[in-house]
Amino acid sequence: MQDYSKQNFSLATDYTSWLEGIIDSINDGVLVIDSRGIVQFINKEYTEITGVRRNKIIGRYLIDVRKGAVLPKTLRDGKRRSGIQRKEGNNRYIVDMAPIYIRGKKAGAVSVLKSLNEVHDLAKELEKNQEKLGKLEKTMGQIYKTSYTFDDIVGGDDGLKESVNLSKKAAHSNLNILIQGESGTGKELFAHAIHHESPRSNHPFVPVNCAAIPTSLLETELFGYEEGTFTDSKKGGKIGLFELAHLGTLFLDEIGDMPLELQAKLLRVLQDGRIRKVGSLAEQALDVQVITATNKDLENMVKKDKFREDLYYRLNGIQIAIPPLRKRKNDLNVLINHLLSQEDISSSLTLTSEAREVLQQYDWPGNTRELFNVIQYGINMIDNEMIELQHLPEPIRKQGRFTKTFQQETLKDILLETEQAVIQETLENCGHTLEGKKKAANKLGISLATLYNKINNSSR
Ligand SMILES: Nc1ncnc2c1ncn2[C@@H]1O[C@H](COP(=O)(O)OP(=O)(O)OP(=O)(O)O)[C@@H](O)[C@H]1O
Ligand SMILES: [Mg+2]
Repeated sequence: MQDYSKQNFSLATDYTSWLEGIIDSINDGVLVIDSRGIVQFINKEYTEITGVRRNKIIGRYLIDVRKGAVLPKTLRDGKRRSGIQRKEGNNRYIVDMAPIYIRGKKAGAVSVLKSLNEVHDLAKELEKNQEKLGKLEKTMGQIYKTSYTFDDIVGGDDGLKESVNLSKKAAHSNLNILIQGESGTGKELFAHAIHHESPRSNHPFVPVNCAAIPTSLLETELFGYEEGTFTDSKKGGKIGLFELAHLGTLFLDEIGDMPLELQAKLLRVLQDGRIRKVGSLAEQALDVQVITATNKDLENMVKKDKFREDLYYRLNGIQIAIPPLRKRKNDLNVLINHLLSQEDISSSLTLTSEAREVLQQYDWPGNTRELFNVIQYGINMIDNEMIELQHLPEPIRKQGRFTKTFQQETLKDILLETEQAVIQETLENCGHTLEGKKKAANKLGISLATLYNKINNSSR
């Protein structure tokens, strides 16, 4: 056998010093007792951690110097112990203990001490970060929260009430919800109200406008990506909106605009209840209720192969159809009054009956949004607190001209007025240039000269 102490460790004075050097250089505290329980060795780190110097402990019974020491017990019962927590002043540490056997005979025991201060510092850092995270989550909660409830949905029309009742039931289900309705009917308002009513209301409501996000970005927006997936990808990757909506609601607005290739991916996520970030192999389970909305006829799109049939049925767990405003005109006044009272705290703003009548006759292709815009326009046009016919936008007035109620007017006046309205309407469509006038005259079946005559008559 080679004698390492003499041949190879020429720098060390002897083998024992070499070993001591090694043990002194390690990061953990070490204490060794012999078979009698007398301390034979401690390293530098032991002194660092406990504050006990060599001359105060070497050669003494451990139990005399360190009251409550557990190592003599290990010596007696020969059992290994680990993870015992101790505290010395401000220093906290954990201790592992083991008996020492030499040629099968118990020769002593060793304690290895690991300082917890570093761990403690890390724990404090973690605590701070968790606090920060909590604040961020709170901020996020404020960003991703709903702004409207069912109380904000104004109207007593039976069709609308039916949609509201169905939506309330949908809110308490876990089914996917598809909201269909023309532009401006309140689809987004309904989506907010459903989330607010649902047991998910304390979790995020994440809206995504599928038509507003470029196709190339939509996938990573929805599912996120793993770090290093793209050359310019963010450090740490990107969290997807699906993940952000975990436990809450994801509102996919304008779903009819989602490209077909992404529809396939969305279908897979909805079927599996799991997402996989772009560039990642791992899947992640998610609990998200999906609300979709569109003003397109999805069923028709399915027929034309523009929307996946399987996805359509997936999304269509409960379908809520919001009736257009022209089919619930009895709600017009309550909607108008609602907006007026919001705009005017003194609630003295009002509309003339003539103006209200014209609004009743209009078709409202832009639905409630258009109605609110028209009223806003009127509020900006008035000098006092009365919105009159003249304060309404031109297209509404135009329609009103044909449908207004005539009071105490002679037939001649009514005919003249209607004739002028028709002429103006045709000129608006054909243009006021000479070419436009020729076209208008042709359309109305009169000569250009007669048209000029009638225009001139009206300005007299
Ligand atoms: N029943 C209602 N009561 C009160 N406000 C309503 C109602 N319906 C719609 N609104 C209001 O009308 C406006 C348009 O509603 P919203 O944006 O929800 O419509 P939308 O159907 O999502 O329209 P689009 O298809 O154009 O996206 C909003 O200001 C909304 O608050
Ligand atoms: Mg909308």
